[in-house]
Amino acid sequence: MSAQPQRPAFGTVLTSHMAVASYHGGRWSASEVRPVAPIELSPAAHVLHYASTCFEGFKAFRRADGSVHVFRMDRHIERMRQSARQLVLPEPDADRLADMVRGVIARCRDSVPAAPGALYLRPILFGTTANIGAAATPARDASLIVLASPVWDYFAGGMKPLRILVDDEHTRSAAQMGVVKTGGNYAAALGPTLSARAKFQTDQVLFCPGGQVQETGAANFLLIRDGALLTRSLDSSFLHGVTRDSLLTLARDEGYAVSERAFDVNEMLEWVKTGEAALSGTAAVLAGVGTLIHRGVEHRVAGGEVGAHTRALRAKLVAIQQGEAPDRHGWLERV
Ligand SMILES: Cc1ncc(COP(=O)(O)O)c(C=O)c1O
Repeated sequence: MSAQPQRPAFGTVLTSHMAVASYHGGRWSASEVRPVAPIELSPAAHVLHYASTCFEGFKAFRRADGSVHVFRMDRHIERMRQSARQLVLPEPDADRLADMVRGVIARCRDSVPAAPGALYLRPILFGTTANIGAAATPARDASLIVLASPVWDYFAGGMKPLRILVDDEHTRSAAQMGVVKTGGNYAAALGPTLSARAKFQTDQVLFCPGGQVQETGAANFLLIRDGALLTRSLDSSFLHGVTRDSLLTLARDEGYAVSERAFDVNEMLEWVKTGEAALSGTAAVLAGVGTLIHRGVEHRVAGGEVGAHTRALRAKLVAIQQGEAPDRHGWLERV
């Protein structure tokens, strides 16, 4: 048996090229694909002081025949435009941004890994206007950059069941900002996530402000069991995951009764006595939870292993992404 090749950690390697466009004087420049290199930014740039920044993350997949297909780019671009609007940043045109993504993939086609790898695409948008007195003024200038990174597993250990701290003390973000994919939300979650890791050796924190289950620092949260799936209904307090939407669609196709509603920590702890819990996201896909830690007490989920429903739903989604199952919902675009 050959040894598994050593893979770089998620996001640590970039492709050779990126796509770049800028916004000045009320209009976007033409975009350009150029080698990845440091960028010039004024130390007074709006983003460095007032955090005017948002980003996206999605994947392109290489098939056995060498073709490359990007997954639900339209939804990710729409979410990025919504983030930009909410942060009062210049809103990128959807077609322009899609062309920038296609341009990077075309230039870096050889860097798209074969399954089970993928090319992770990371558009970023940030305010560049130099003005340190602009706390209450939007950036008039902005940069839009599309980075790409060959990726494999997000959680070290792949399908290892996750340990999750249930935090009913902190909120991940300001209530109306959860739906925005902006750096400040991740900065806010970092402290609680690191302190949970140090104390409980957890992989992630599940934020449950006021006792209501919400999401983790970088993924949505699903409860699954025979014929049923439960997840929080959409509101502005958390990120509307494209993977969440895809998995809910596949679960409905498979005949699961899918409930989207508020539920609290007590209901979740009851559920996991017999049912499964999992995190969903572009990076994590669908990652099974083995342990929930709440107020110092460890609760085993699905016997501490990745559950059968979690594995099956994950496999369904991955099969579509990798072209092994038909794309009935029109989620893939050949690039
Ligand atoms: C906070 C947060 N929630 C949920 C998700 C899942 O979103 P998606 O499925 O669109 O990747 C992400 C990102 O991956 C995230 O950062």
